[in-house]
Amino acid sequence: MGSTWGNKFKVSIFGESHGHGIGAVIDGLPSGITIDLERVQHELNRRAARGNPLATPRKEGDQIEILSGIFNGKTTGAPLAGLICNENTRSGDYAKTKDLMRPGHADYAANARYDGFQDYRGGGHFSGRLTAPLVFAGAIAKEILRETQPEIGIGSRIVSIANVKDEPIKDWKRYETLSKGFENPAFPLYHANLEDPMKQAIIAAMEDDDSVGGIVEGFITGVKPGIGNPFFESIESRLSALLFSIPAVKGVTFGAGFDMAEHRGSETNDALRIENGQIETLTNNNGGINGGISNGMPIVFQLAFKPTPSIGKEQQTINLAEMKDATLKIEGRHDPCIVVRAFPVVEAVTAICMADFLL
Ligand SMILES: Cc1cc2nc3c(=O)[nH]c(=O)nc-3n(C[C@H](O)[C@H](O)[C@H](O)COP(=O)(O)O)c2cc1C
Repeated sequence: MGSTWGNKFKVSIFGESHGHGIGAVIDGLPSGITIDLERVQHELNRRAARGNPLATPRKEGDQIEILSGIFNGKTTGAPLAGLICNENTRSGDYAKTKDLMRPGHADYAANARYDGFQDYRGGGHFSGRLTAPLVFAGAIAKEILRETQPEIGIGSRIVSIANVKDEPIKDWKRYETLSKGFENPAFPLYHANLEDPMKQAIIAAMEDDDSVGGIVEGFITGVKPGIGNPFFESIESRLSALLFSIPAVKGVTFGAGFDMAEHRGSETNDALRIENGQIETLTNNNGGINGGISNGMPIVFQLAFKPTPSIGKEQQTINLAEMKDATLKIEGRHDPCIVVRAFPVVEAVTAICMADFLL
C-alpha cells in the first residue's frame, strides 16, 4: 500500500475506519524537539466532527495516545508512533456496502486492487477517518517548524461551498495577517459574512439527502527564497502529492492556477522590485514558487473537494456478488460537505511537506 511518504520526515499512516484504531509512525525526527501534546490534541479536535451540526453524526474522541518517540516532553529521535482508538463504530450501517458498491467512493476500485480482502466497513483504509493520523503527523511537523523555523506560518481558508464563493486575495501581504488567525477559526473565511449562505447551501443539500463540494485555499508565509528543487522534487510536485492524498481532493492549483491560462504574460508575470531593501514581487500569480523553488512570497494553493460520495438519495450501482445492476440508498452517518472538516487536514499535510523540505 502507498501509505508511507517522505524523504526526511517519513510518515506512515495505518488503520481502518471500523478496526481497533488508526495512527501514524513518523521516522527521521531530530532529537530534543519540544512536543506540546495539548497543541497536538487541539489540532485533532479541530478536525473531529464534535460539536459541528454540519458534520457526520459519528462523533469520535480522537484522543491521541503516544506509543513511542517522546520522553520527558521531547522527541527522542526514535520513531514517533501515535494511536487513536476507534470508539464509535456501527459496522451494521455498512453491511450493504460489502456487495453494493458506493458510487463515487473507493469500494469498487479497492475491491479490484485487493481482490476483495480489504476491510470494507465504513470505507476501511479509504475512509475520511484516516485523515486523523495525517493531522497527528502534521501537528508533530508544526511543533518541529515552531521550534526550528518560527518565522513560518501555515493557514487555510474556505474559498467556496457549492456555488457560494469568496473572492481571490490579490494583495499577498494580507496572508501575513491571515496566518495569525481568522474571525471564526472553525469556519475560516476572508469575508465572514459568507458563513451563513455557505452553511445554508450545506443544509439545503442535507435536506435533499445530498452533499456538496467546495474549494479550500492553503497558504504558507515566511518561507525564505531558495527552498525546493527543480523538476520531480519541486515544491509543487511534493506538496501536491500530499494534497492529492487527502480523500475527495480532485483538483490542486498554485497561485492564480488555471486562470493564468486565459491571460497574457504581461498580465500574469509577477514584476520584481526592491521594497525597504527586500526583494519582493508586486503580484503573486505564481503562488510563491518559480522553477519549483520558493521565491520568498507566500506560497498559495487551492484544492477542489468533490461532494461527499455517500448520500441518502437513491443511486444506480452494481451488486458485485451477484454481478447485477442494483440501486443503493446509503443509511450510514456521513459528512454532507467534506470542506468543513478538511481545512485542518490541508494545513497538516502542508506542515509535513515543509518539515520534509526543511529538516
Ligand atoms: C475529512 C474527510 C471526511 C470525509 N467523510 C466522508 C463521509 O462521511 N462519507 C463519504 O462517503 N466520504 C467521505 N470522505 C471522502 C472519502 O473518503 C473519499 O471520497 C473516498 O475515499 C474516495 O476517494 P476519492 O474521492 O479521493 O476518489 C471524507 C473525506 C475527508 C477528507
